[in-house]
Amino acid sequence: MSEHNQRVVDQFTRWAKPFADLPIHAETSAMALTIAACAPTPDMNILDVACGPGILACTLAQHACHVSGIDITPAMIAQAQAREAATSLKNLKWYVGDAMALPFEDGSFDCVTTRYSFHHMRNPAASLLEMKRVCREGGRIVVIDATPSPDTQSAYDEMERLRDASHTSALTLEQLRRIGADAELREILVDGYRLEACLDTLADAEDMPALITMFDTDIASGADQIGVDARHVGDGIHFHFPVSIVAWES
Ligand SMILES: C[S@@+](CC[C@H](N)C(=O)[O-])C[C@H]1O[C@@H](n2cnc3c(N)ncnc32)[C@H](O)[C@@H]1O
Repeated sequence: MSEHNQRVVDQFTRWAKPFADLPIHAETSAMALTIAACAPTPDMNILDVACGPGILACTLAQHACHVSGIDITPAMIAQAQAREAATSLKNLKWYVGDAMALPFEDGSFDCVTTRYSFHHMRNPAASLLEMKRVCREGGRIVVIDATPSPDTQSAYDEMERLRDASHTSALTLEQLRRIGADAELREILVDGYRLEACLDTLADAEDMPALITMFDTDIASGADQIGVDARHVGDGIHFHFPVSIVAWES
């Protein structure tokens, strides 16, 4: 495994349970927009890449024939299995594996999704091509991820790396749309939402002092250079992730 992927596995082995339990990751209105973009139907075979604890996969499985989830972190797949076990769903299958080398034949799926994962990848364009490979012609590919604006991207990445060493860079919406066009995918939908978050729930204790300093400086400047509308609420720091959804036809 590459050094970077080992960093991802270390991060999400520690964070598997807290990530799975955090309510914002199953937030109803954001999930509704995501499901609408995926447009699942009862005959569809879907793959969720970097599925984490299976929150999106289990929701998609309520509307589709079958859903597979794959993630590089075994502890995340264990969370996904536990989530599935708490439902009556019988149409899910889980794999431990790398998004860059999916263990599936060409054209295996009607829809291929990935949520909140491209900012952990060194080469999201290559990952998108791999998603395209396993999607049938005329199928749907959906990417959901935080997309800072061009003028806040650098500060946003700095903030994210302070709380998660496996963060590479979040694409801007323009960059995400560009890698779709470069992969010769036909864009069919662009949507988005703000995911409201509380800093206390999102970082290890030892990373908090540097994060608080960065957020406090940003809030005091009034310039919103991180681009997340950071603010003090009570004695905590609240902000939002600027999330985009892009769907293409393969
Ligand atoms: C922020 S979590 C998102 C989990 C899930 N997609 C969700 O939205 O709830 C990022 C996930 O990406 C996975 N991941 C990162 N790089 C990966 C790769 N190259 N292949 C497979 N999974 C990867 C991590 O293990 C982690 O579970």
